[in-house]
Amino acid sequence: MSQLRREDRAVLRVLSGEAVFPPPAWVMRQAGRYLPEYREVRARAGSFLDLCYTPDYAVEVTLQPIRRFGFEASILFSDILVIPDALDQRVRFVEGEGPRLDPLEGRAEFDRLRQADDPAIFTHLAPVFEAVRRLRAELPFETTLLGFCGAPWTVASYMIGGRGTPDLAPSRDLARREPELVKALIDRLVDVQIEYLVRQFEAGVDAVQIFESHAGTLPETQGDALKQWSFEPIARMVAGVRARVPGARIIVFARGSGLEGHARVVPETGADAVGVDWSVDLAELRARIPDTTVTQGNVHPDVLIEGGEALDAAVDAVREAVKGRPHIFNLGHGITPQTPIAHVERMLARLRR
Ligand code: CP3
Repeated sequence: MSQLRREDRAVLRVLSGEAVFPPPAWVMRQAGRYLPEYREVRARAGSFLDLCYTPDYAVEVTLQPIRRFGFEASILFSDILVIPDALDQRVRFVEGEGPRLDPLEGRAEFDRLRQADDPAIFTHLAPVFEAVRRLRAELPFETTLLGFCGAPWTVASYMIGGRGTPDLAPSRDLARREPELVKALIDRLVDVQIEYLVRQFEAGVDAVQIFESHAGTLPETQGDALKQWSFEPIARMVAGVRARVPGARIIVFARGSGLEGHARVVPETGADAVGVDWSVDLAELRARIPDTTVTQGNVHPDVLIEGGEALDAAVDAVREAVKGRPHIFNLGHGITPQTPIAHVERMLARLRR
């Protein structure tokens, strides 16, 4: 029997440009509340952040969806908001409501954050790297292990607003009133997240995803805010990580950036792949980007709740749109707690038929 090599992992093959068919699959938020075994560990852990910072728990919930469904990629269980927490802007998760932080409203709060090179940041995050090391040892060899972080604009928007406001008015407002301050915050986040991703690679991840979940609040008008606050800082992160981890594979998910924005992700950030949200027509996007560009996505999470023929049709549409092109199958945003497990099984059976 021939020896399987690391680069033979299906998701890594796609990220290096190979059109694997049917495409390998994982889903965003694949470890989560739709799984009874997740809810059981979540209850034992107490708070959501205790779950993230306790390697025994984080490893266990990361492995759950791999055991159950055999996804081709496993994403480390953590959250993008461990970064503000590590910068000493403490984060709490309120049951049924979401994350809460003390809002960063001006220079005073910014000056209280830890500097990017403060070793305390990475002492705080040590359990995350420990979880990565254990995961790489425990996962099936062929499963790609993904690390991740939030993009600077998305993380900054939670830091500034103190929560996920619908239209990110506080962060856009601050970017208008005090652009120098927001720029300094973005720059701090770029530096910290480069180090954070490099350490995830050193601990054993095969590739990473950068979540720009709030790209949709940055209009292309007004001097191309999307470039200024999102794509340019992400490009610095991509280059900064690759300078230290040559050939590092990076996916960028720029939710809400529209067909035009999605088409710009790979050329403007230097990422290896664009994660496509559910609002974009995948066939239309594929038609306007080079055949060699790697895509990921993009079944609507609500269609996965619905199941049945609607789900079959959505899976078939993705298969059809990406045939002969490098693609990683996923949803167009995170899986929701009310998703029936049988629908996930049906989706994967249909994809792999
Ligand atoms: O994808 C995975 O399975 C990996 C783990 C992961 C989580 N959050 C676990 C989580 C990842 C990659 C994230 C990213 C994340 N976190 C994003 C970007 C992706 C996106 O969804 O757009 C954002 C914006 C956050 C911030 C965040 N974390 C919010 C707004 C919330 C509350 C909303 C909710 O669903 O409750 C969280 C909590 C969170 N992060 C949960 C999970 C499984 C649910 C918390 C719980 O179990 O109580």
